[in-house]
Amino acid sequence: MPHALEWSCAYAHRLQGVPPLAASASDAIGRRLASEISQGTLPFLTMPYRQRLEADLPPVIAHAKKFRHMLLLGIGGSALGARALQKAFAPGMDGPGHSGPCLWIADNVCPETFTDWLAALDPKDTVVTCISKSGGTIETLSQYFLVREWLSAALGDAWRDHMIVVTDAKAGYLREQATQLGLQSLEVPDHLGGRYSALSAVGLLPAGFLGIDWQGLLKGAARVAEPIAKDPTKVADHPSLAIAAWAKALEDKDYSQLIFFCYIPRWTAFGLWFAQLWAESLGKEGKGTMPVPATGVTDQHSVNQMFLDGPRNKGCIFLTQAKVPDGPTFSQDLPDVWSWLRGKPFGSLLEAEAMGTRMALVQQAVPLLHVEMGATDAEAAGSMMMLLEAATIFTGWLMDINPVDQPAVELGKRLANARLGASGYPKESADLAAYLSATKRRQDF
Ligand code: PA5
Repeated sequence: MPHALEWSCAYAHRLQGVPPLAASASDAIGRRLASEISQGTLPFLTMPYRQRLEADLPPVIAHAKKFRHMLLLGIGGSALGARALQKAFAPGMDGPGHSGPCLWIADNVCPETFTDWLAALDPKDTVVTCISKSGGTIETLSQYFLVREWLSAALGDAWRDHMIVVTDAKAGYLREQATQLGLQSLEVPDHLGGRYSALSAVGLLPAGFLGIDWQGLLKGAARVAEPIAKDPTKVADHPSLAIAAWAKALEDKDYSQLIFFCYIPRWTAFGLWFAQLWAESLGKEGKGTMPVPATGVTDQHSVNQMFLDGPRNKGCIFLTQAKVPDGPTFSQDLPDVWSWLRGKPFGSLLEAEAMGTRMALVQQAVPLLHVEMGATDAEAAGSMMMLLEAATIFTGWLMDINPVDQPAVELGKRLANARLGASGYPKESADLAAYLSATKRRQDF
């Protein structure tokens, strides 16, 4: 069954009457797409790395699979894709009786958690995958230093067999380490920024370790990308540009939030992946819509009241699957008051509640784009990820901002470095001193 975008309720409320994207605007996107493709700056779309990855990845996966545990060190785009894939396609660790491989994603610098994990994991049965495109991200590097010591204390020189590095081909501290120490490594291709890198070794090595169909992910992604990667003039009719035009219309009409309401429960973590993709790409120069990931049906009993009757500042991407799995069937013996459930599959609840919530949002005039997945296998996920990545890029182009940088987040990093005593931050050190000595207005409780 094909996947589909259902547009009938997308241009509602303040979007009513918004004209379709002008031909001149889609032509301009097509020209820019052609130019960037020829310069090699959109590898997430063209996937020039695919053939080499398909050759390089299997032996590394085979090596990783010798271990029961993979400890992934990485943050942001170096972690969120792997987590989404794990939750969607290898959710065993979240349930009782898990006996398969375990993936632990350390994407924070929580001292307690890190201490607990290192105490509980057996270095002999753990492979560490250190993922950083830049090879210099402090959160990831700090964990690398600690884990290297932890491994070598237990294993001596053999620690190197327990470390895999995924980083830039040439630049950065991690690449230097891989070269100097002879660590196994895979490359993050040039121009493939973190949040667009899930379908490279960044996401596919952990996926492969978990036994996820990583080739299927690539296949599904390529299916969506190929028409416009091969012929950029086709972008005018591509669903990713339709999403971008809608997102731009939301922005123009003062909608400030974009809900990602996921009614495929196992795909919930794609909401976090999408939130980073959208926010880090598009929150620029005072512009952008704030992504709000939500889970159906869980969040019907949480934030949905705000979606329905809070400020009219939200659009919604509403994700469902065409055929909800049945699950167990309700007994014919249910009490009379619940008789209408007798003989029905448990999955009918999910289907009905998705329908009910979608209609309620529409009745409250929330502009809603319904994304219906014809399947929920890895290939389908690859298609959805590619669709949303392309839509994000095109939205950025329509907004006239750069969707592949993230300059604003640098300031906090520089201030943190100054706080830790790193040299080369004279201004930040002075700002820090002024901030720390300023009068505070504390209210204890
Ligand atoms: O999307 C991005 O570019 C960022 O979120 C990065 O993934 C994140 O900052 C980690 O960077 P790196 O992979 O260089 O360690």
